[in-house]
Amino acid sequence: MRELTFIEEALVPDVIELLEHDHREVEEMFLAYTKTTDVKEKRSIVDKLIIELVRHSEAEEQAVYPAMAKAIDGGKDLVEHEISEHSEAEKIMAKLDGMDPEKPEFDTLVAELEAAVLEHIEEEERVAFPKFRESVSKEDLDKLGTTVERLKKIVPTHPHPIAPDHPPFNALLGPGAGLVDRVRDLITGRGKD
Ligand SMILES: [Fe+2]
Repeated sequence: MRELTFIEEALVPDVIELLEHDHREVEEMFLAYTKTTDVKEKRSIVDKLIIELVRHSEAEEQAVYPAMAKAIDGGKDLVEHEISEHSEAEKIMAKLDGMDPEKPEFDTLVAELEAAVLEHIEEEERVAFPKFRESVSKEDLDKLGTTVERLKKIVPTHPHPIAPDHPPFNALLGPGAGLVDRVRDLITGRGKD
């Protein structure tokens, strides 16, 4: 493969830019949810939200938080706090996964998830990410960006247009609950054998 030119290299987002881009996507999905009354569409938006949120948090927990814990003053506590917020959000997602979107509680739970996720995003972008950017080199941020992209690629958020029935997407949306676990297992490589 040829080397990237200087300009191409400058265009590759670093890890913080990548994660912040994910955040904007998630905000858009929540917005799309509030704009629909169609139950099928609600289900599909929530499924995509779950996939995106779980793969984002898993990538953060595997690749980014360990580096953050080391680099930032008080980073260990900060990271523990972020992880506990991830698991709070996961509990809500697990409930949503098994719930009929026609139930009125479905909307309430989505609103609860939105509040929790938006608060987490705000905190990361206001406190954790700026501190992290200050404490590590741009080169390290770029390297972590590559790792995060690689991890996220393991789990697609949309079915492939040519092969919607092919793995791993069909495995993700197969019958029965457990979407949160299935996304996590794919990224961590658990449950492969
Ligand atoms: Fe995040």
